[in-house]
Amino acid sequence: MIGKKWLPALSALVMAVGVTAGGGAAMAKEKHKDIVNVSHRGASGHAPEHTLVAYDRGEKMHGDYIELDLQMTKDGHLIAMHDEKVDRTTDGTGYVKDMTLAEIKELDAGSWFNEAYPEYAKPEYQGLQVPTLEEVFQEFGKNNSYYIETKSPAIYPGMEKELLRLVDKYRINKDKLLIQSFSPESLKIMHELDSSINLVQLLSYRSYATITDEQIADVKEYAMGIGPNHTYLNEEYIQKVVNSGLEIHPYTVNDKERMKQLIDWGVTGMFTNFPDRLHEVKKGK
Ligand code: G3P
Ligand code: CA
Repeated sequence: MIGKKWLPALSALVMAVGVTAGGGAAMAKEKHKDIVNVSHRGASGHAPEHTLVAYDRGEKMHGDYIELDLQMTKDGHLIAMHDEKVDRTTDGTGYVKDMTLAEIKELDAGSWFNEAYPEYAKPEYQGLQVPTLEEVFQEFGKNNSYYIETKSPAIYPGMEKELLRLVDKYRINKDKLLIQSFSPESLKIMHELDSSINLVQLLSYRSYATITDEQIADVKEYAMGIGPNHTYLNEEYIQKVVNSGLEIHPYTVNDKERMKQLIDWGVTGMFTNFPDRLHEVKKGK
C-alpha cells in the first residue's frame, strides 16, 4: 500500500511517463498547431519581397499573417518597403522620403530578385510595382491578417496616424491586426491613438539575449508581445517571456531544425521567408 504522502510524487511520475510515452507527442502537436506563421515581407524566399505576388504566395503557403514594412513617400503615401532607400529592391536610387508616389510607381520591384535568386526567378516578376498600403488592403481585404511594421518612424512624423486612418478607412478587422516596431515611441503613439490595437515590440540582440522583469513589465504597459531576432535566443529567455503572458514571435527563421527547436522552447509564432517550411514543421514533416 502506498502512503498518502507519496501520492503527489506518484502522480508526477505518471504524468512524466505519459509525456514521454505518447501524451508528449499529442501535446507537442497541439503546440505546433497554434504557432503563428508570419510571411515575412510575404513569402519573400520565393518571390520579390513586399510585392503583391509575394503576399499572395505567403497566403497560398499557409502563412497566417502578411508582414509589411512601411515607409512614407515625400507626398505622404505609405508604401510597403523594408529599406529607407529604394536601391536594394528596385531599379531606382534614392530615399523614399525624397520621392513622390508617382516616382516610386515607375520603379521595377521584381527584376532584382530574378538576378539575386536565379533558382526562384520567374519572368512575371519583372516590372512588379511597389505597392501602397492602400493597395494591399484593397487586394487582400478587411478580414485578412496583417502584421504591420512602422519603419524609421523618426523620419516620418505622422506615419502612425496615417496608418490608423487607412485601417479605419478600409475597416480592417482589428482582431486580426498586429502592429510592430523597433521604436517604443512609435508603439506608444499607436497605443495613445487607439488602445484597442494589439502591438508587438521588436527587439534586436547582437549577442546573448536577456530580458529583465522590469523590461517585461514596461513592454506589457502597451504591447501584447515581443519580436526578438532569433539568433541568440535560448529556452530560458523564451520561457520567461511566455510565462509573463507576453507572446513571442522571433524573426527571421528559415531553417526547419531551428523552427522545431524554437517551438520546443515555447515560442508562440515566428517570422519566416518560407511559410511553406513552417507549415511543414507544424504538420510534423
Ligand atoms: O518585423 C520583424 C522583422 O521583420 C524585423 O526585422 O529588418 O526584417 O524588418 P526586419
Ligand atoms: Ca519587418
